[in-house]
Amino acid sequence: MEKIFGVLSMKHLLLVSVALNVSLILRVIDGSEKEILNSEKVHVCKNMQLFLSSSSSSLFASTGIEAQDGWERVINLDRGDPLMYEKYWQQMGDKTTIVIPGWQSLSYFSNVSNICWFLEPKFAKEVVRLHKVVGNAITKNHHIVVGTGSSQLFKAALYALSANDASKTVYPSITDFVKSGLQGILVHDLAYYWPQYTSISFPANHDLMLFTVSTITGHAGMRIGWAIVKDKEVAKKMTKYIELNTFGVSRDSQLRAAKVLKVVSKSCTEPSSSSEDESFFEFSHHQLATRWKLLRLAVQKSGQFSLPEFSPQNCTFLGREFKPQPAFAWLKCEHQKVNDCESFLRSKNILTRSGKQFGFSSKYVRTSMIIAITIVPIDDQLPKIQCLAKDDELGCQ
Ligand SMILES: Cc1ncc(COP(=O)(O)O)c(C=O)c1O
Ligand SMILES: *[C@@H]1O[C@H](CO)[C@@H](O)[C@H](O)[C@H]1NC(C)=O
Ligand SMILES: *[C@@H]1O[C@H](CO)[C@@H](O)[C@H](O)[C@H]1NC(C)=O
Repeated sequence: MEKIFGVLSMKHLLLVSVALNVSLILRVIDGSEKEILNSEKVHVCKNMQLFLSSSSSSLFASTGIEAQDGWERVINLDRGDPLMYEKYWQQMGDKTTIVIPGWQSLSYFSNVSNICWFLEPKFAKEVVRLHKVVGNAITKNHHIVVGTGSSQLFKAALYALSANDASKTVYPSITDFVKSGLQGILVHDLAYYWPQYTSISFPANHDLMLFTVSTITGHAGMRIGWAIVKDKEVAKKMTKYIELNTFGVSRDSQLRAAKVLKVVSKSCTEPSSSSEDESFFEFSHHQLATRWKLLRLAVQKSGQFSLPEFSPQNCTFLGREFKPQPAFAWLKCEHQKVNDCESFLRSKNILTRSGKQFGFSSKYVRTSMIIAITIVPIDDQLPKIQCLAKDDELGCQ
């Protein structure tokens, strides 16, 4: 191994190209692997996938690679772990650091006067501020209910909107709180109605809207989401559900989320020319745009996959028009012989989720666009190799 990597010294970069890997795979399918191996600028990091750096000026280097069975390396695009955002938050340094003294958060209660008695006032304030800054949702005259992720709020909404009988079986003690007649309210999961994913065309003003820090800032581990609810009774019932379920929502997490949202809002309203204070949404929009561009390029080159096409829309927040760039891409295996796209990609050590799991054709897979991939610019004259994880782990000594 040392021999191999003597040639490519440690400072060389190993480029792990998720996007271009796709085009590689398809060439492999055609049995023209040799052609690739013989082409210029191809690097093999032993025990890892083969990745090539071709004409593109930048490539993906992935830390989303996972060890499997010792030496096997796998790119996991199945889960939507939003580690794409890590770089921005590292760049922000201590800006989002908070200190919570030991004597804080002893009580279960955050504000006993509020319908949602476990909602931290600081957190509520930052939620309202961010929606105002981005212009993606109306909060005035609505109630905010905080939840352990929007996953919990979704269940709280189902509970609040279900008819008497359905709730009786689950929570016999509190059926008094459940009145019928609330069915018919639509739950809008607006997790992705943020300018890095899609154009903001108007402030949403639905009866029940769900949001989460998981998809806005990438802080999925904080487990914080919120619902914006028009109807007071619905807000009460959702609060009741969370009371019965977890007796509130971590106050520490809410404080941390408040701080992060505050930094996001400030990065938009007080933009600075230094990259340190770059607008959060500009940064993340750009990251996703690059990923989509590379994926489309690879798909186009392969001629064997396809992606959905989107039309541009004007974004009131970013002040320009752009096409949606979702957090997940629906990739279709166009090759006649590949009916099970997920299995096919798995055989190439790329994990995705079959369309079948979403009640759709297995010709399609869902691939995450927000995993931990960093984009490394390449000098065309000097292809580089980088091992992002510890070199010995990757066998890149
Ligand atoms: C549609 C949708 N809603 C919500 C979430 C996040 O849920 P939670 O807030 O529980 O992390 C995700 C995460 O990937 C999602 O895709
Ligand atoms: C507590 O909730 C009430 C009712 O919503 C609100 O008027 C008040 O401002 C809240 N307290 C704080 C400290 O935000
Ligand atoms: C966006 O707005 C501009 C200026 O109003 C307009 O010319 C353009 O057609 C709009 N684009 C879309 C996709 O609606």
